[in-house]
Amino acid sequence: MVQEANRQDMPYRNAALGVDERVNDLLGRMTREEKVGQMMQLDARLDVDQEVIDQHAGSLLHVSPENMIRANRATGRTRLGIPLLIGDDCIHGHSFFRGATIFPEQLGMAASFDPDLVERMGRATAREVATTGVHWTFSPVLCIARDTRWGRVDETFGEDPYLIGEMASALVRGYQGGSALSGSLAKDSVLATAKHFAGYSETQGGRDASEADLSHRKLLSWFLPPFERLAKEGVATFMLGYQSIDGTPVTINDWLLNDVLRGSWGYQGTLITDWDNVGRMVWEQKVQPDYTHAAAAAVRAGNDLVMTTPGFYQGALDALDQGMLREKDLDRAVRHILALKFRLGLFEDPRLPDPQAQKVVINSPGHQQLNLDVAEESMVLLRNKGALPLFGGLDDQGHCADGKSHSIALVGPLIDDAQNQLGDWAGGSGQCDWIQDQPREMISTVADGLRQELPDDWTLTCTSGIDIARLVDDPDGALYPDGQPRPKVAAPALVDQARFNQAIEAAKASDLIVAVVGDVVQLVGEGRSTATLDLYGPQARFLDALAETGKPMVIVLMSSKPLILPPSAEAAKALIWVPSPGMQGGRALARILTGQVEPTGRLPITFPRHAGQLPVYYNQIRGQHGNRYADLTQDPAFAFGEGQGYTTFAYGQPRLTGPAEVGPEDTVEVEVDLTNTGRRAGTEIVQVYISDLVTSVSWADRELKAFRRVHLEAGETTRVHFGIPVSDCTLVDAQGDRKVEPGEFEVLIGHSSRRNDLQKVAFTVR
Ligand code: NOJ
Repeated sequence: MVQEANRQDMPYRNAALGVDERVNDLLGRMTREEKVGQMMQLDARLDVDQEVIDQHAGSLLHVSPENMIRANRATGRTRLGIPLLIGDDCIHGHSFFRGATIFPEQLGMAASFDPDLVERMGRATAREVATTGVHWTFSPVLCIARDTRWGRVDETFGEDPYLIGEMASALVRGYQGGSALSGSLAKDSVLATAKHFAGYSETQGGRDASEADLSHRKLLSWFLPPFERLAKEGVATFMLGYQSIDGTPVTINDWLLNDVLRGSWGYQGTLITDWDNVGRMVWEQKVQPDYTHAAAAAVRAGNDLVMTTPGFYQGALDALDQGMLREKDLDRAVRHILALKFRLGLFEDPRLPDPQAQKVVINSPGHQQLNLDVAEESMVLLRNKGALPLFGGLDDQGHCADGKSHSIALVGPLIDDAQNQLGDWAGGSGQCDWIQDQPREMISTVADGLRQELPDDWTLTCTSGIDIARLVDDPDGALYPDGQPRPKVAAPALVDQARFNQAIEAAKASDLIVAVVGDVVQLVGEGRSTATLDLYGPQARFLDALAETGKPMVIVLMSSKPLILPPSAEAAKALIWVPSPGMQGGRALARILTGQVEPTGRLPITFPRHAGQLPVYYNQIRGQHGNRYADLTQDPAFAFGEGQGYTTFAYGQPRLTGPAEVGPEDTVEVEVDLTNTGRRAGTEIVQVYISDLVTSVSWADRELKAFRRVHLEAGETTRVHFGIPVSDCTLVDAQGDRKVEPGEFEVLIGHSSRRNDLQKVAFTVR
C-alpha cells in the first residue's frame, strides 16, 4: 500500500497542474482492477469498506451520515487515495437527510410555471445537500408524462416539452450555479443529472420500465428537446433509462448515446446507467447471455459509471481477458470520471460533511419561507362555484370578511398524514433504511394549517373517517424464491363504519366540508404504476356519503398525479389539486383557502375523465375520425394550462407589433392586452402557443412556446409583449430533421391550452 506521504509527491496530486495532465498521470498508475472499480457506483447500504477497498468503487449512492465517514476513511486506505464521488436522489429537497427541507415534488414545481422560484428551490437544495458530503443529485427528471397510470408521474414536470425544458434548466441553474462542464463548482453547489435519458416514461400500459415504442422521429420531436437543452447548458451528468427502445436497451443504444448525445449534441459530461441497467440486460431483458457480455457491451456503448451492478466488476475483467474489451475502452470512461473529480477539486477537498454549516443552512428560516412559497404556487384551483375563499375570505385583521364565525368539518384520509404529504423520495418513502420519517414537527398538515390560519372564533372539527390503503402480503407469496422478503403491496383499506359515520356526522353538523382525498405513497413510485386512476379504497364511497349531506363541500385532491373523482364530486363547490406539497403543504393550502394567498398554479398535465381516455396530453398529432368515443367524450376533465385564481381576467385581441411576414432568422413580435376584471388583485399565467397550419408531416395542432406570470391589481390593464423566435416554430420532418417550414402560422394566446381559451393572430414564414 502506498503511504499518504508518498502519494503527495505524485503529479496527479499537484493542484497546480491542468486537469488533463493530472488525469493522464493518475490513469497511468491505475491497475485494470482499479479502472473497472472506478466505473462502479455501489449501494452504500451494503458493506462500504468492502466496496471501497476490495472493489475499488469510484462512486457511492445512498450513503447514510454514518457511512459517509466510514467511506471516506476507507478511501484513505486505498492505494491511490482517489476520492469518492457521492450521489443521491435529492430530488425535491435533500430527501434522505433527516431534518432537511422537503419541497413539493417536481410535478408541483411545474404547476408554478415559475422558473425563477424553481431555480431558487434548486439553490436552496444544493446548499443543504453540499453541507452533508453529497456531491451530486440525481435530478431533474426530464421524462414526458403521457400515460399517467405510470407510477412516477409525480417526479416529472408534466407533459409539455417546453415547460419541462424551462423548469429543468432553472433547477439545474440552481443546483450547479452554471455549466458544470467547464470550470469548477462552487462549494455550495452540487452536480445535477438529466434523467432518464430517454423515453423511459413512454411505457406500455403505464407498466414501469417496459419497452418504449418510440421511433427516432418521435424521440427527436418531443422526448429529446429538453435533454438537448440541458446537454448544451452544461448539466454535469446524464442518467440512462432502464427500458429498451425498439429492441435495444438505452444502456447500449448506439444511436441515442453516440449519434445523438455525444455526436450531434457534442455532450462532454459523464454518463451513468440507472440502477443495475447492466445486470438487467442479463436477468431481466435477456439480451445479454452473461455479465461478461453485458459489461463489455455497456462499456463499448459509452457508459462511464455503472450504477449498482456488483457483477460488472468480474464481468468487465473477464471481458478484458477474453478480448471483448480493451483497456483503452475503460480508459475513455475512467478519464471522464477522474476529470469530473479533478474539476470538483475533490483531491484537494473531498467536500466532507460540515456539521457547522449544516446547523446554519439546513431547514433555515429562509428555506422554510421559500418552501411555503413553492407550495403555494404549486396548488391548482380547478373549480370554484363561489366557495373559495372560504366565506369570502379574511380581512387584514384575520377576521372573516362577512363578520360571522363558521364551522368547518375537515374530513378525509389525508387531513393529517404528515409523512405521506411529502410524497415519494422523502425520508419515509422507503428507499433508504437509515431514515424512517421526517420530524413530525417540521411538517404542516392540512389540519395543522387550518388550525393555524382560521380565525379563533371558527369551529374546526377534524375527523379522517377512513384510510386509503393497507399493506398486505404480495399475492405471489411473502418471500422471493431465494427466501428474501417480498415487499408488501397495497390493498384497499377496510372501513370502520363507526369511524366513517363519525366523519359524516361532523360534516352534517358543519357549515362547510373540506374533504381531503388523494393517494398514498404505497400507490406511487417505481414499480407502483396503477391500472386505473380512480380514487383508491373507500374514498369514492366516502365522497358519495359527504355529498349526500347536502352541505357545501370543498374537495382537496392531494395526489401524486391526476386522479379521477367519482360523479358525486361534481356536487362539490370547489376543487383544488394539491400535488404532493411537501413540508409546508398544510399551511400553504390554508392560506389559499382563507384567501390570504391567491391560487396561481396551472396544470402542467391534463386530467382525464376516465383512464380509458389516455393519453390525453394536449399537443396530440392532428388527424383521427371524429372527436369522441362512442361511449365518452374525448374532452379531458381539465386541460394542460388550466387553473383559476380568485379574480377574473379578460384578454384583448392579440396583435403583431412587427411584420406579419418573417424570415427564419426573425422574431415574431406579438402583444395582447390583459385586464383584471374582478375585484381582487391576482396573477394570470399568459400562455403562448404556436400552430403551424399546414405541415409536410402530421404534427401537433399547437405547442407551448412561451408563458409569463402577470400580476394585476383589480381593474388594472396591462399590455403583455412576447417575442417568439421563428427558429422555435419548428417541426421534425420525415427525415428526422428539425426545421422551420415556410407557410402560414398562428400565434395563440390565452389562459390555457384549450382552443376556447386562446385567441389567435396569423403570420407567415417566407
Ligand atoms: C432508480 C431510479 O430510476 C433513479 O431515478 C434513481 O436516481 C436511482 N434509482 C438511484 O436511486
